[in-house]
Amino acid sequence: MSTQKGIGIANGKIILMGEHAVVYGEPAIAFPFSGTTVTATLTTASSPTLTSSYYNGPLEQVPTELTSIQTLVQRLTNDYQSPACHITIESTIPAERGMGSSAAVAVAITRAFFAWQKIAYDTKQLLAYVNQSEVIAHGNPSGIDAAATSGHDPILFEKGQPFTTFALNIDAHLIVADTGVKGKTRETVKDVRALMEQHPQTTLATIQQLGQLVNDAKQAIVLNQATELGMIMNQAHHYLQQLGVSDATLDNLITCARENGALGAKLTGGGRGGCMIALAQSALDAKKIAHKLTQAGAKSTWIQELGVYEYA
Ligand code: PMV
Repeated sequence: MSTQKGIGIANGKIILMGEHAVVYGEPAIAFPFSGTTVTATLTTASSPTLTSSYYNGPLEQVPTELTSIQTLVQRLTNDYQSPACHITIESTIPAERGMGSSAAVAVAITRAFFAWQKIAYDTKQLLAYVNQSEVIAHGNPSGIDAAATSGHDPILFEKGQPFTTFALNIDAHLIVADTGVKGKTRETVKDVRALMEQHPQTTLATIQQLGQLVNDAKQAIVLNQATELGMIMNQAHHYLQQLGVSDATLDNLITCARENGALGAKLTGGGRGGCMIALAQSALDAKKIAHKLTQAGAKSTWIQELGVYEYA
């Protein structure tokens, strides 16, 4: 048996702006979130096996939640006629918190596979495998998770259109806090749909306001206007509350962040659980806000420096 090894890494993702509105054709912005990562390691084995915090054993017997991984590995093995492999997954991305955990695992495994088999590949090939895996995990994925967990730049996403990326040009820090409660994306998407049917005019107006805020946010990032971006985040949260997708736990953490110096704060992803995000000007402010969020009940917090990059 060969001891040859392939390692693949992927990061988490955060929706900065545009959740829910994106379902109705408005744009959304997602950030790769390097505060959380997945590492997959592949080695040659006599039969396919998986080691993870969730399951340890033969790949053929994985629980239903992991069938997307099972199918992904079978496809890769068949397509490239490779030997069987043992996969180890180590992840700091919490599952079901809107941080793209399933897509990140698929990205890490696919990268590890190509490294293990010494196969040259491009982003298109990588995303094709990851998107297939996401169809099994989520039914009808938009593709935003696959793109954001595999890249380094913010993504501007519009349903049915190719992604565009833009430079992360903002001198600020992003704090992410986990409520500790599973996000309820399916439920909130359904409830917004019902609201749209009951009150089409006001709901559509709210969705369009959110879409406008996405364009404003992109502008603020490109022009390095952190204070403006914070205000835009606050406005977005107000509209998300109007759509009924926040809850008391999220609102409590968002108020806490604002009271402790955040430039702005909002929920991220589907809502009613999951995570909230806050923007801070300095690393010191970000640390203080993260600490206060933990005191206010956040289960975990992460800080990501957003940074200003010079392009020659
Ligand atoms: O909770 P997440 O990160 O999967 O994000 C859901 C985003 C929504 O706009 C609410 C739904 C969607 O499919 O775009």
